[in-house]
Amino acid sequence: MQLKRLGNSDLSITPIGFGAWAIGGSGWEFAWGSQDDTDSIAAIREALDAGINWIDTAAVYGLGHSEEVVARALEGVRSRPYIFTKCSMVWNEHNEIGHSLKADSIRRECEASLRRLRTDTIDLYQIHWPDPVEDIEEGWATLAALRKEGKIRHIGVSNFDVEQMKRAQAIAPITSLQPRYSLIHREVEKEILPFASRENIAVIAYSPMASGLLTGAMTAERIAGLPADDWRRHHADFREPQLSRNLKMVRLLRAIGRLHGRTPAEVAVAWVLSNPTVTGAIVGARRPGQLPGVIGAAEFRLSPRELVEIQTFFAKAAA
Ligand SMILES: NC(=O)c1ccc[n+]([C@@H]2O[C@H](COP(=O)([O-])OP(=O)(O)OC[C@H]3O[C@@H](n4cnc5c(N)ncnc54)[C@H](OP(=O)(O)O)[C@@H]3O)[C@@H](O)[C@H]2O)c1
Repeated sequence: MQLKRLGNSDLSITPIGFGAWAIGGSGWEFAWGSQDDTDSIAAIREALDAGINWIDTAAVYGLGHSEEVVARALEGVRSRPYIFTKCSMVWNEHNEIGHSLKADSIRRECEASLRRLRTDTIDLYQIHWPDPVEDIEEGWATLAALRKEGKIRHIGVSNFDVEQMKRAQAIAPITSLQPRYSLIHREVEKEILPFASRENIAVIAYSPMASGLLTGAMTAERIAGLPADDWRRHHADFREPQLSRNLKMVRLLRAIGRLHGRTPAEVAVAWVLSNPTVTGAIVGARRPGQLPGVIGAAEFRLSPRELVEIQTFFAKAAA
């Protein structure tokens, strides 16, 4: 796989990274239903065997569980991938999730993530959400200080807009931005991606398959039968009126993929990667066998005609 430099850092990353949200498991507000850790570990190992060299997780995924599972999956692995994790989403003794960008809170979070990940340094530490917005400066200055202290190697942001990134940049350069970006969520194309590109901020796109919706494995029947604690059951993308349009998009992805022997998931991720401002796509997998159905996206190129076809579909759907 062709590697790309992660913004101003010395890290070179594969076009696809492993997304570790779903492997956080059940029992918290943004769970994906129940999850078997053995499957999670097998899925991570499969990703590493396929050549993927970075994993994106967060403290809040499974309230620490995702980071622990990542550490278990890396036991005895000789060629370790880069570990990217996130701070700012915290939880109390009742497992209620809140947000904090206060220095003491971030420092506590960082120590907890280092412990769970069983490492001395985090390769990329990201602010998960710019919330509370008035504390962006305090949070970002804390990340910069932690980098100087050697606890983390590089610092990035997630879900920031241009104004918020400018505020952070006044304190310390940003290595990467992690925005939501997929065929059905293109809001960042107008201002955020061009800004990141101009400023040499790497873009690692999250939910490139719209959290499974664009893989071809999601149907109205399957959505209706999702477990009660799968957050997707209640999300607007998975409900009407958007659902029918989204599933129609999958039909187009399937038709394009068929011409190349590719899955709809590969076409969806290849489309994200076709944007030159995107450095990498974070692909979520939770069972062995899933990643092999997507990994081909790292090399697959959509033709200019196919890109126009997809664009036309959008123009029609928006009309
Ligand atoms: N910074 C943020 O605020 C933020 C927010 C969201 C995500 N992220 C990051 O981005 C990563 C990826 O996003 P995501 O997990 O939302 O979604 P995604 O990558 O768009 O979709 C992942 C889901 O698609 C399904 N899938 C994967 N491979 C498949 C295959 N070959 N065939 C059929 N279905 C397949 C799986 O769901 P099923 O097993 O249920 O079918 C999987 O959990 C996350 O893990 C996380 O690291 C960050």
